[in-house]
Amino acid sequence: MNALPFDFTGRHVFVAGGSSGINFGIAQGFARAGANVSIISRSADKVASAVAQLQAGGAHAFGTPADVRQPEAVQQALQAAADRFGPIDVLVSGAAGNFLASALDLSPNAFKTVVDIDLMGSFHVARFAHPHLRQPGACVIQISASQAFTPTPFQAHVCAAKAGVDMLTQVLAMEWGPQGIRVNSIVPGPIADTEGLKRLAPTEDTLAAMAQRVPLRRLGRTEDIARMAMLLASDWGSYITGAIIPVDGGLALTGPRDFSAAAAASKRERA
Ligand code: COA
Ligand code: NAP
Repeated sequence: MNALPFDFTGRHVFVAGGSSGINFGIAQGFARAGANVSIISRSADKVASAVAQLQAGGAHAFGTPADVRQPEAVQQALQAAADRFGPIDVLVSGAAGNFLASALDLSPNAFKTVVDIDLMGSFHVARFAHPHLRQPGACVIQISASQAFTPTPFQAHVCAAKAGVDMLTQVLAMEWGPQGIRVNSIVPGPIADTEGLKRLAPTEDTLAAMAQRVPLRRLGRTEDIARMAMLLASDWGSYITGAIIPVDGGLALTGPRDFSAAAAASKRERA
């Protein structure tokens, strides 16, 4: 990122699922703008490497492994982060799992796994972060997906989970608004070089077709999402709450995508 219009010096930003991809990009954006950054994800190695990268960039960073499906682990991680950097100014909730599979190819546990990570995980993070959120002034950002409002074949599990995430965003915005806590969802478009996009567009052809479908005719960058997160968390976003905000080059306007070829390839790979 070049010029930095935002200054988060001394602010505490906690990113669930912050060890890679879009969420790590958000962590980096805030770190470069002066924030103290805490991250969690399942893999101790990924967390250690992400924290080392943030620190190498000059940031105060803290991380601990935790699975968002486990409420006690989430509670402990949030407590450890608050002990380290104080009240949380910005909470980013972006832990998620995805794979392509038709509803009939989803076992009950496959469906449940994604709902547990995306939806239950977002609930656990928000619910147990609440005592640590700065009041008034905290900003909660949930990382959603267009599957929340676009019925998408081969994504029944993700559609159900992310729709729940966006509804949680809106309900929490109403319940926590009087306490001066804002809650919004960012809906990223297809972001280059991320695990999520790799799973939905696994070949060069499917990737090129995806970029061609975006009205702005390019894939997104993690910086695109980090900038929206910083805007929302800054004074410029101080009257925005309960919003579901696509940052996707217009992709959500184009309706359901056809993942049948990619799903068939991924099914062959698993067989
Ligand atoms: N198609 C159908 N079912 C699948 C699947 C696929 N491609 N991948 C996993 N599953 C099923 C498993 O078979 C299992 O069901 P079963 O117990 O009935 O056999 C269930 O999903 C859970 O899989 P498991 O590997 O035990 O879960 P996990 O908790 O270790 O991992 C995932 C969670 C499956 C979401 C894994 O892909 C992951 O860790 N993802 C994180 C990274 C990611 O998805 N990034 C993109 C974010 S958008
Ligand atoms: P990613 O790099 O795989 O990010 C997911 C992060 O969540 C990882 O850091 C992962 O680390 C962590 N995570 C997964 N399961 C977890 C669990 N149970 N508990 C704690 N942490 C967990 O993928 P990404 O593509 O950048 O996706 C990030 C977010 O953007 C997701 O919410 C996704 O739905 C959303 N999104 C992505 C795109 C895209 O184009 N990529 C588009 C729309 C929306 P560990 O493996 O260490 O747990």
